[in-house]
Amino acid sequence: MLVLILADTELELVPEELANHPSIVKNARKRGKTPSKILLDISLHRSAFGDSSDVERRGRPDIAYFVLTLCLDSIANAEGKLTTLIHTRNDDLIEVSPKLRPPKRYNRFVGLMEDLFDKGAVPEGKPLLTITRNMTLEKVLEKCNPKTTVCLSPDGEPADLVTLFNDVEETVACLVGGFPEGDFTSPAKELSDRVLSISPHLLKVWTVASNILVSYNLSDKTYK
Ligand SMILES: C[S@@+](CC[C@H](N)C(=O)[O-])C[C@H]1O[C@@H](n2cnc3c(N)ncnc32)[C@H](O)[C@@H]1O
Repeated sequence: MLVLILADTELELVPEELANHPSIVKNARKRGKTPSKILLDISLHRSAFGDSSDVERRGRPDIAYFVLTLCLDSIANAEGKLTTLIHTRNDDLIEVSPKLRPPKRYNRFVGLMEDLFDKGAVPEGKPLLTITRNMTLEKVLEKCNPKTTVCLSPDGEPADLVTLFNDVEETVACLVGGFPEGDFTSPAKELSDRVLSISPHLLKVWTVASNILVSYNLSDKTYK
C-alpha cells in the first residue's frame, strides 16, 4: 500500500481578516456565496494580499485539484493500493475515498471543497470526502501508521523511487508539499525515515506526485 500525503497544502476558505476585501466580496457575490465560505484563490484574490509575502504561497487550491485527479486516476488507485490524503496549512485532514470520481472541471472541484469545509463530509448520505480538524501532520501519520515514511524534498538525498519502493517495507507513506513556494511548515522531514530528492531541479507538486505514482506502478508492488 502507498499513502500519498499532500502536506501543508494551500487549501483553505477565505480567512476572516480578508473576508471584507472588495475583490473577495465581489467574487463571492458573483457566485451567490458568503465571502468566508469561498476558497481562497490567489488567481482571483491577489489584490487582497497587498504586498504581503503570502502572495507567493497561499490560495492554491489548483495544486490539490491536480494531485487529486492524478491519484484517483492512477493504476495504484484502480488496484486498491493507494490512500490519498490532503493535509492543509490549517491542519485540516481531507480523507479521499478511492471511489471518488475526480471532478472533470476545476469549478466543480471548487464547489465540492467549499461544501466539504461547510458540511464536514460530502456527498451527504454516502460521503466520499471527509474533513477532520486539528490534525497535525504528526497525528495524520499516527492515524495511518506506515512502516516507512518518506519526505520528498529538492534538498533530500538523491534517489530512484522504483528502487525505493522495491526495497522498503510497506505500507509506505510519501509526503509531498502541497505549496508552490517555501518549505514545509509542519515537521515533515523530522517525521520521516528518509528525505529524498528525485531530481536536481525544483519540480512542480504534480510532477512529483506523478513520479511517485508511476514509480510505484513500475516497482514490484503493483500488478503489471
Ligand atoms: C514546488 S515545491 C515547493 C518549493 C520549495 N521551495 C521547496 O524547496 O520544496 C513543492 C513540493 O514538491 C516537492 N519537490 C519539488 N521538487 C522536488 C525534487 N526535486 N525532489 C523531490 N521533491 C520535490 C517537495 O515535496 C516540495 O515540498
